[in-house]
Amino acid sequence: MALLINSVVGASPLAGESLLNVKDLRVTFGTPDGDVTAVNDLNFTLNAGETLGIVGESGSGKSQTAFALMGLLASNGRIDGSATFGGREILNLPEHELNRLRAEQISMIFQDPMTSLNPYMRVGEQLMEVLMLHKKMSKTEAYEESVRMLDAVKMPEARKRMRMYPHEFSGGMRQRVMIAMALLCRPKLLIADEPTTALDVTVQAQIMTLLNELKHEFNTAIIMITHDLGVVAGICDKVLVMYAGRTMEYGSARDVFYHPSHPYSLGLLSAVPRLDKEGAALDTIPGNPPNLLRLPKGCPFQPRCPYASEGCENTPPLESFGEGRLRACFRSVEELV
Ligand SMILES: Nc1ncnc2c1ncn2[C@@H]1O[C@H](COP(=O)(O)OP(=O)(O)O)[C@@H](O)[C@H]1O
Ligand SMILES: [Mg+2]
Repeated sequence: MALLINSVVGASPLAGESLLNVKDLRVTFGTPDGDVTAVNDLNFTLNAGETLGIVGESGSGKSQTAFALMGLLASNGRIDGSATFGGREILNLPEHELNRLRAEQISMIFQDPMTSLNPYMRVGEQLMEVLMLHKKMSKTEAYEESVRMLDAVKMPEARKRMRMYPHEFSGGMRQRVMIAMALLCRPKLLIADEPTTALDVTVQAQIMTLLNELKHEFNTAIIMITHDLGVVAGICDKVLVMYAGRTMEYGSARDVFYHPSHPYSLGLLSAVPRLDKEGAALDTIPGNPPNLLRLPKGCPFQPRCPYASEGCENTPPLESFGEGRLRACFRSVEELV
């Protein structure tokens, strides 16, 4: 009996068990002007069924982190470090193993659903194809399962929609098709890269609510990539705040949202619309993220940081504080008000 339990646990991690372990992940691109480190020694763990938010402005290295895990880096990219998934190393896998991993274990949804949908094929055929190929289902089984999945993502009139082409769907409905497609093979991990950025605010909220429901229904771990710290507050367990490829802060979503410990998180939060300040103009962080080829000395956020002082021209180490939290800043948390 003990043996049986072990083998079941091995096959499918239970909630709370470590699913993904990322250690010293580094992504470097060779360019004519020199090497660019887009992801700089990232560390995090994700348990089965858990949701991690990766948050930062454009150019922070969020997508490259995801691409490295999925084996989707551009050809001038190089990966160092380690990422184990269910105990197995997944960085730099050969292409055929990556294909299997992507089909069966980890799926990804992108900001623009048309990157993954074929415009010339009916949506139903695209869904069925995945199931027939990877789950060896018959046509009838694949049809019924596809309809079930469209129902699960709350697509009205699923059977009718099966016969439609992607361009006949609204942006929000197309993103639902993408989510259905991503969940078809019951992946243990879903990576959502800014899945709602192209949608209007009401539809964004609907998609987030849907993802939140689905993660419970399918016990899927999620990495939610976004530039909007407000988005992660409601759906994530943990949050990693990234800037110029580095971790600025890491902790529970509740801690980071209500008690941010890094000036960069404070800046991102002031750009989040809040119900209690309706109509108030949103602040954005003055200045722009740095060019990775010409990083400032020390803390990469220092030139834009309202709390910066001389010491910040050294690189602040990523240090633990509080319960399971990490931060890279020389200022004490009490100073940030
Ligand atoms: N193929 C590439 N060659 C060189 N640099 C790249 C390449 N792809 C990405 N980068 C660099 O990596 C940085 C981070 O990119 P990315 O992860 O896409 O940011 P984001 O946080 O907006 O998703 C980019 O700003 C760019 O400097
Ligand atoms: Mg991106």
